[in-house]
Amino acid sequence: MATNDNNKFQAIIAHAKEYGFVFPSSEIYDGLSAVYDYGPWGSELKKNIRDYWWKSMTQLHENIVGVDAAIFMHPTTWKASGHVDNFSDPMIDNKDSKKRYRVDHLIEAHAESLSEKEAEVLLAAMDRLLAADDFAGLKQLIEDNKIKCTISGTGNWTDIRQFNLMFKTEFGAVASENEDDNIVYLRPETAQGIFVNFLNVQKTARMKIPFGIAQTGKAFRNEIVARQFIFRMREFEQMEMQFFVRPGTEGEWYKFWKEARLQWHLSLGMPAEKYRYHDHIKLAHYAKEACDIEFEFPMGFKEVEGIHSRSDYDLSQHQLYSKKKLQYYDNDIDETTGKPIGNYVPYVVETSIGLDRMFLAVLSNAYEEEVIAKEDGTTDSRTLLRIPPKIAPIKLAVLPLTKKDGLPEIAREIMRQCQDEFYCFYEEKDTIGKRYRRMDAIGTPFCITVDHQTKEDNTVTIRYRDTMTQERLPADQVMALVKGKIR
Ligand code: GAP
Repeated sequence: MATNDNNKFQAIIAHAKEYGFVFPSSEIYDGLSAVYDYGPWGSELKKNIRDYWWKSMTQLHENIVGVDAAIFMHPTTWKASGHVDNFSDPMIDNKDSKKRYRVDHLIEAHAESLSEKEAEVLLAAMDRLLAADDFAGLKQLIEDNKIKCTISGTGNWTDIRQFNLMFKTEFGAVASENEDDNIVYLRPETAQGIFVNFLNVQKTARMKIPFGIAQTGKAFRNEIVARQFIFRMREFEQMEMQFFVRPGTEGEWYKFWKEARLQWHLSLGMPAEKYRYHDHIKLAHYAKEACDIEFEFPMGFKEVEGIHSRSDYDLSQHQLYSKKKLQYYDNDIDETTGKPIGNYVPYVVETSIGLDRMFLAVLSNAYEEEVIAKEDGTTDSRTLLRIPPKIAPIKLAVLPLTKKDGLPEIAREIMRQCQDEFYCFYEEKDTIGKRYRRMDAIGTPFCITVDHQTKEDNTVTIRYRDTMTQERLPADQVMALVKGKIR
């Protein structure tokens, strides 16, 4: 089985809170299950990951443009997209503890306790039954494997039922006689905001197929088994791109984006050995072909991003329900007829990554408790975040060695020169060693120290987070050095 390092995971969660990355939402009221707030360094890191994705999708692709659609959408959107009828998970309740489980999660958790071979057999059986929507078979599988509730310890299960994951709310102040008239949903994916704007974007941005529309934004799901910190949340953020292609070419574009998206993760400085693909057997209601890009989190390999070949399902459904044509006129010449290809509903290949999940992947990969061997034979330790410099919350800490002798003024001047280019942090309190450790803990890749020599020759010491090595350089070269390393 994949590694499951619960201690490390708990340490990361504690570290994220202690150092201002992630807090439980409304914590003074004991929090709200599976909802989290991002603190000063968390919101900065999250923004940097989002910006890196946005730039890679829009600025670096001539044929991809962005949108920022509203969270509220006309309720028929969700009827057309299939979410009202199909966006549900098979659930099972334990009659004694009243605890509800997602069936696949219950079985997967049990598989963790088995040998590799046994787990493989069990999960293969589960995939087969899920793909066939065979709920009686799944219940039998749970009973045959004597899977117990973690709270009550019993195997006293209800039948398996579907449970819709969309949040509903009421729209407008005037109550309608028919309650359903006022119901709107909080979007469970950002993708539909792209589909309903397909023609607006194609026409106004004069896009030619193949082209993409990118969007980042909040999505909401009433997850039943919502644990594992920010891995599975009820309110989360997605970064999605729908790529519209000519029917018949979707297979090659699916392959293209599957590879391109993995490369994006690696370009961020994430290690290749912590990634793998997982091709889906049971497909979502809209998908023709789908895979996950999985990352090795402390709790094992889990999905961080999905690549889905969605056919013309969504556009055709919106066309049907809205009675508006959602088609593209392709004036490229068809080789066989010698005439323009003409009108069609484009096919779509989607890339969909959870920003919070990517954040957790970056954090888990960066977290390290390092033991440092000292010259006198003893050891020291430090906790650091090896966050790739280009997405680190703070790029440069500017630290005067003491609070006197004019050093703070020099440090402030260097800070003023750099802070327009990248995020800097000034600190003069505590010993320099303590300040370095605090910067290590929030992942600041570079610190410069202004000392008495700076007054004589205008040089500073730069200290590198990962190696703790230090070197002197002219103060006026700091900005260029850091800029070069965060590109
Ligand atoms: N538009 C397609 C779609 O939404 P998905 O596989 O359901 O596909 C895409 O979700 C990504 O969104 C996932 O790979 C995951 O990173 C993220 N995601 C989904 N549900 C989530 C949740 N409850 N909490 C955090 N991230 C979630």
